[in-house]
Order: sequence, then structure tokens, then C-alpha cells
Amino acid sequence: MTGDKCMCVFINFCAFPNSNQHIIFHSMALSPPFVSFFFLTFTLTLHSQPLPPPPPPFACDWSNPSSKSYPFCNPNLSILERTTDLVSRLTLDEKLAQLVNSAPPIPRLGIPAYEWWSEALHGVAKSRGINFSGAISSATSFPQVILTAASFDSHLWYSIGLAIGIEGRAIYNGGQAMGMTFWAPNINIFRDPRWGRGQETAGEDPLVTSTYAVSFVRGLQGDSFHGGKLMGHLQASACCKHFTAYDLDNWKGVSRFVFDARVSLQDLADTYQPPFKSCVKQGRASGIMCAYNRVNGVPSCADFNLLTKTAREKWDFNGYIASDCNAVAIIHDQQGYAKSPEDAVADVLRAGMDLECGNYLSSHAKSAVLQKKVPISEIDRALHNLFSIRIRLGLFNGNPTKLSFGMIGPNHVCSKKHQYLALEAARSGIVLLKNSDALLPLPKTNPAISLAVIGPNANDFTTLAGNYAGPPCRNMTVLQGLHHYVKNTVFHPGCDGGPKCPTAQIEEAVEVARKVDYVVLVMGLNQSEEMEELDRVQLDLPGKQLELINSVAEASKRPVILVLLCGGPVDITLPKYNHKIGGILWAGYPGELGGIALAQIIFGDHNPGGRLPVTWYPKDYIKVPMTDMRMRADSSSGYPGRTYRFYKGPKVYNFGYGLSYSKYSYEFVSVTHDKLHFNQSSTHSTMDENSETIRYKLVSDLGDETCQSKMVSVTVGVKNHGSMVGRHPVLLFMKPGKHRSGSPMKQLVGFESVLLDAGERTQIEFELSPCEHLSRANEAGLMVVEEGSHLLLVGDVEYPIHIIM
Ligand SMILES: *[C@@H]1O[C@H](CO)[C@@H](O)[C@H](O)[C@H]1NC(C)=O
Ligand SMILES: *[C@@H]1O[C@H](CO)[C@@H](O)[C@H](O)[C@H]1NC(C)=O
Ligand SMILES: *[C@@H]1O[C@H](CO)[C@@H](O)[C@H](O)[C@H]1NC(C)=O
Ligand SMILES: *[C@@H]1O[C@H](CO)[C@@H](O)[C@H](O)[C@H]1NC(C)=O
Ligand SMILES: *[C@@H]1O[C@H](CO)[C@@H](O)[C@H](O)[C@H]1NC(C)=O
Repeated sequence: MTGDKCMCVFINFCAFPNSNQHIIFHSMALSPPFVSFFFLTFTLTLHSQPLPPPPPPFACDWSNPSSKSYPFCNPNLSILERTTDLVSRLTLDEKLAQLVNSAPPIPRLGIPAYEWWSEALHGVAKSRGINFSGAISSATSFPQVILTAASFDSHLWYSIGLAIGIEGRAIYNGGQAMGMTFWAPNINIFRDPRWGRGQETAGEDPLVTSTYAVSFVRGLQGDSFHGGKLMGHLQASACCKHFTAYDLDNWKGVSRFVFDARVSLQDLADTYQPPFKSCVKQGRASGIMCAYNRVNGVPSCADFNLLTKTAREKWDFNGYIASDCNAVAIIHDQQGYAKSPEDAVADVLRAGMDLECGNYLSSHAKSAVLQKKVPISEIDRALHNLFSIRIRLGLFNGNPTKLSFGMIGPNHVCSKKHQYLALEAARSGIVLLKNSDALLPLPKTNPAISLAVIGPNANDFTTLAGNYAGPPCRNMTVLQGLHHYVKNTVFHPGCDGGPKCPTAQIEEAVEVARKVDYVVLVMGLNQSEEMEELDRVQLDLPGKQLELINSVAEASKRPVILVLLCGGPVDITLPKYNHKIGGILWAGYPGELGGIALAQIIFGDHNPGGRLPVTWYPKDYIKVPMTDMRMRADSSSGYPGRTYRFYKGPKVYNFGYGLSYSKYSYEFVSVTHDKLHFNQSSTHSTMDENSETIRYKLVSDLGDETCQSKMVSVTVGVKNHGSMVGRHPVLLFMKPGKHRSGSPMKQLVGFESVLLDAGERTQIEFELSPCEHLSRANEAGLMVVEEGSHLLLVGDVEYPIHIIM
């Protein structure tokens, strides 16, 4: 390894000092020390800084005597007192100018310009608010979210959020940002496999997505893992988007701008809304973005019930609400919901939106006010919400680099620690889908083996990033990662023209494959197949990919290994059952160190443990219109339903599927009570189903105290029977004892990722609230607890619980 002429620097991360108190590598000891290497080619740009960076923009410069006289500059006053003072000083024109994403400066009050639009989905990205053209030219590019979700590891999600928040703050402090309001995470449910932005999400399950939202937001905003540390301050500001039921971009001519999502109250209650509720209530997110689409006729950004009654009043939201970009204009121009531009402006401000991404308000807010369609009180409310965020970010306290978060320097961007975390995220998420006859891992100890790496995604580092990626700290391909293990590696792209693969050089690829000991095919999709404004219309591998795979597999000496880079699922039924394909790995879009992560798994330096966060459907699923928002199956019309909770048809792979080099076993060690009595005081209601009378109670009638008192502790034992250390996510499901129409067939109620040595056993404790985990939404969208039995389920092991009314 030392003779490597590409000047790679090897770093043993097990010996890496844990100097930054912020980040805990809870999962460091994953590999035996001698293999826990990966190479860092230090082409980082931080080596020389000729000039000190310009100071970041801030208000209340103490060198200006008038700052001391402004109550809005006084950190001893409450935020409300400060914003009240500030707003009272503004003219109408100054007020209106602040309602758009590029907020202009107010020089007479010493207030600089602010850019609200920054992106940080899986790493700080280039955007209006973030500039990579100074000393800092890149940021850590973590795996695309769908892969990170596959780790089922909330500590990892938190650490990533924290790292991104630190890098965002460091970039601001380094004078290369105009704002610190990041429009992430995307917490919509990945409802349909064709969605081009499904890759940005944490998958199809509401609990996983909710937990992802809370963990990521707490990390990014600088809170503790369990929350409650911040006291209102913000390291950076996160934004839960896109509120709500947004999961279609552009499918067969139906665009997100005009789509009217018809959503039942039941689906809204137990699928679409839970991530937003968690993001706001537990995560304490300081931003929400309302979506382009309409929900049951009402544009999300003009929905008072959604923005004000639900988010602000029911969930106690106290941040700002931004529109998706140009979402106000379309309410009039494309949806025709508002009769005039002024009506559109009035609709959104009345609904509770505070900030427009766009400039429709710059053109039409003044006339809306003059026509008395918008009272000043609504504008003032928006301004309070907006300035309170800038104050909480510490931008109205004098030079922020003198304050706590201001000490975060540029050395945090692309730090070894963050890059290690990116590697850890990739290898924790990658899912082993097939491993016939234990083909994997390949023998790394044999220096004489030869390897062919074939496929359009093998030597393209841009594919690894996924959308909303920033410039990565380093560019490395899967080919480079594999080459690190096998010097005798040959490459062939297989397809002409990338993953679209309209034509393939099959004979040439076959010739390459025939000559070597092992073949790894790196196939899948890229952003030309699935992205924002581009949903897929089919689920096959594009073009000639399958033909190429089959021909290469047929010709190879041994069964081949297929690596899939894609966000949404593809139908790989044929490779799944092809005996010439011995191993299949799904790697999402694994980020800047995804090539290393894959190589470590293929050569056994890491034991794969990721599990699919979405159902993989067969390709004829496309007969379901993407526009049909119903989660629940409808047998009368042949509608099959969506996601593992409701879809009854055949699957290529199930939600939660994923193999490992270890076998794990489970047992229920204890369940604190398996009979839950709800027959005290308050009366029950009944409903009839199939001539059976079922008693139930509304969760809202039970009240928090009863719900708390009925908590069930479930202790699950898990053992690693393999010979390798492994990280393994344990998934606890609940299954209604008797299937009732409208109930999920199965529902995830808890999950936790554990690190287990070879032969090690541990116990995990899950706390279940019957009101939260054993309840379901009724057709009116209300959560109910019903009498009857439920099965707890881990793997194939079941445990019954009874609810008695
Ligand atoms: C805030 O309070 C502290 C402590 O009472 C005081 O020293 C400081 O001058 C006050 N700051 C302002 C701007 O009034
Ligand atoms: C980025 O910053 C550089 C120097 O600070 C400046 O010249 C450039 O205009 C900025 N670009 C953008 C897009 O803000
Ligand atoms: C990665 O590649 C891009 C595009 O070629 C380039 O702009 C960037 O500088 C490269 N980054 C590094 C760290 O080499
Ligand atoms: C994706 O692949 C296509 C060919 O299939 C190529 O033209 C395009 O540049 C690639 N796009 C990205 C964003 O990598
Ligand atoms: C609730 O039901 C249980 C079992 O049927 C019974 O033992 C208990 O007395 C009941 N409690 C009330 C308050 O009715």
C-alpha cells in the first residue's frame, strides 16, 4: 500500500483523536484496526490563506454608537421586545422588502442584507446564500439521505446534522455566506417509487422519517441529541419541507405546480403529517416550507388550517414559514386559485406564510396593502417571525465571530472527522440484497487476483453525490475504491452514454470479464433519470443495462457482483434470480467516500448492515397512477395500496430487507405488561365492522396522563452469530391481531442500530405508548385505540399484546 504512486495518505481512524467534543463516534470500532484505513488524497484547499476572510455580515456593530441606543440590539431584552422595537422602526416599504428570500440591507439601522435561501440536504451545498468561491471551496458531501436512512441509526443522523450545521456556521464565519437558514431536511414520505426526489427523503415509513427529521434538525441547529439544550439559540436554522403531501414532481405532464393532491384525512393523519409534527414538536425546527402543490384544492402556502391552525397553534411552531420558490406566483398564475396577484399575496400572508422565496411580493405586496387586502398586522407578524430567527442565529449581537458559534473556524469544513463520518454513513447504509453461496466478501488477502469493474456508474464521481450536493472535499469513484484493494483491476464502462445506456459495448465488456477472476458491475441510475422535476415513468434499469449485466454474468468465470447506484428502487427481479449473479448491493448515492465504503464491504473490511427504507416493487407497479395519493389498498377497484403498511401485491424486496455477513437472532426477553386495560372511567365508543362490534377510544379523550401510564417496555435480545463485528438495525413492528379495513398490515413502532462483536449478544429496550404505537387513524383522521390483540414482531419472532376495553 505504501508504494501507491497516487500519493495517497493513509490514516488510521481508530487512532484518530476525538478532539471535537461535539461529535461522538458511537460506532467507531467497526473494523479490526488493521483494516480501518481509508485513503485521503489531501487536495484540500485550506492550506494557504493569504488574506484573513472578510467578516460575515451582522447587525448591531458596537463600534457604531447608535447600536447601543437601539433596543433591538440589546441582548438582555426578550426576542419579542427586540423584534417589536425593530419592526416599529421600519417604513412600509422597508417592511415589504424584507418578505422575500433576498432581503435587502437597511443601512440607516445598520442591518445588512440577508439571504434566506441556503441548501444543506446532505452537506452544505452551493446556493444563493452560500458561496464556494473563497478560501473554502468545498464541504463534506454526505451520502444522499435515502442511503443514510437505510442505517436506521438516529445517532448517525444526528451526527450528520451536527456536522453540517458546524460547516454551515464555519462558512458563514469565513465570510462566504449571506445567511444560515438551510432549507433541509426534506421529510416528505417516499410514497411512489418513481418520485425523482424520493432520494432526498428518509423513505416510506412515517416513524423513520419522523425520527430522521428530529435527529437531523437537532444536530443542524446545534441542540443535543435528546433536545432541550439550545435555549432558543441557533447554530444554524433547519427547515422542515415540503408542507404537505408533496411527493410528485413531474410525471406524464402533471407537474408539482398544478397538482392537486387528493388526500384523505386518514392518510394525512397517519402518513403525511407525522414527520412534520415531529420535526416541529420534538425537533423544534425553526423553519417550515410550504409546498407548491394543492392539498384537496387548497394551495399549501395559502392554507390557514395547515400553517396557522396546525403548525403554529396545535404544534406550537415558533419559527418562520417560507414558500417554496415561486410558490406564491403560481397560486394566481398557474393554479388560478387567487383571482389577482394581490389576492395571492393576501391569501398566503393570511394563511401564515412569512417569507416568499421569489419576488412576487416585491411586485404585488404594496398594491395588496393599498387595496386593503392585507392588514399591516399580518406583515408585522411575518417580520417578527423573520427577525426572531436572525436574532436567534446571533446576527444582531455585534460581530458574531466573537460569540460562541462564532468561534467555529474554517478548519471544521472537510475536517477528517466529518469525512470519516461521511464514510461511516455510506457503509452503514449500503444494503446487501443478495449473497449466494457467500460469494461476498471477496478474498482481499490474495494479492494475485484480478478484477474487472464494468458499468456506466463505476468511474463517475458525480453519480455518487445525488442532487442538492455541494462541491465535495474530494472526488473519488467506485473504481478508485476497488482499485485500492486490487492492483490488477481493469475497467470498462459497458454502456455508451452513461446510465441511460442507449447502446452498450457488450462484446468488449464480455471480453474484459472473461479474463479476470472477479467482476463487479456498477449500474443503476443518475440525476438524468431521477431528480427534481423529473419522475420516472418505469422501474426498469435503463436502456441496455440488463442485457449488459446478463451477458457479462454469463461469460464470467465466477458469479458476478452487481452494485446499484440509485435513489428510488429498480425492478431487478431477473438479476435476483440469475444464478450467475452472486452478490447484489444497493448503495443509493453514497457521497464523497461511497467508493471506499463499497470497496470495504466487497472486500470484507466492513460488515454490511443497511436495510431498505422503501419497498421495491415489480415494474408493473407503474400501472398505478402516480397521482393517486391513497395509501390504503382498495380491492373493489384493484388499487394495490402503497408501502409495506398497505401494499398487498408482490414485491422485489420488502421494506426493511437487508442481509449481512453475520446471522442475527432475536428474542423477546420481557414485556412489562401484555394486557392493557382501558376500561376505567371514561366511556368507550363502538363501531361495527363485518357484523362485529368493536370498542375503541379516541386518543384525544384518553389524555396524556393515561397514555403515559400505559407505557409498555419491551426488551428484545439480539445476538450476532457471525464471525465478524457488525452493526445491525433491529426493527420492531406491530401487527394487528386481526386485520381490519384501514389498518396497516404491519407498522414499524421502534428501531435501533446496535454494534455487536462476533458472537456478542445484547438487549435493547423499546418504550411503546399504546396511544402512539398501538393506535391507528380512523376515517375522520382521529387517532383511536381499539380493543383486541396485537402482535409485536422482530424478525420472525412474535409476542402478543391485548387491549381490553
Ligand atoms: C446586559 O446586561 C449585562 C449584565 O447586566 C450588562 O453588563 C450589559 O451592559 C447589558 N447590555 C446592554 C446592551 O444593555
Ligand atoms: C462570492 O464571494 C466572492 C468574494 O467574496 C465574490 O467576489 C463573489 O461575487 C461572490 N459570489 C456570489 C455568487 O455571491
Ligand atoms: C471535483 O471535480 C469537480 C468537477 O470536475 C472540480 O470542480 C472540483 O474541483 C473537484 N474537487 C476536488 C476536491 O478535487
Ligand atoms: C447521467 O448520465 C447521463 C447519461 O446517461 C449523462 O449524460 C449525464 O451527464 C449524467 N448526469 C449527471 C448529473 O451525472
Ligand atoms: C377492567 O377489566 C379488567 C379485566 O376484565 C377487570 O379486572 C377490571 O376490574 C376492569 N376495571 C374496571 C374499572 O372496570
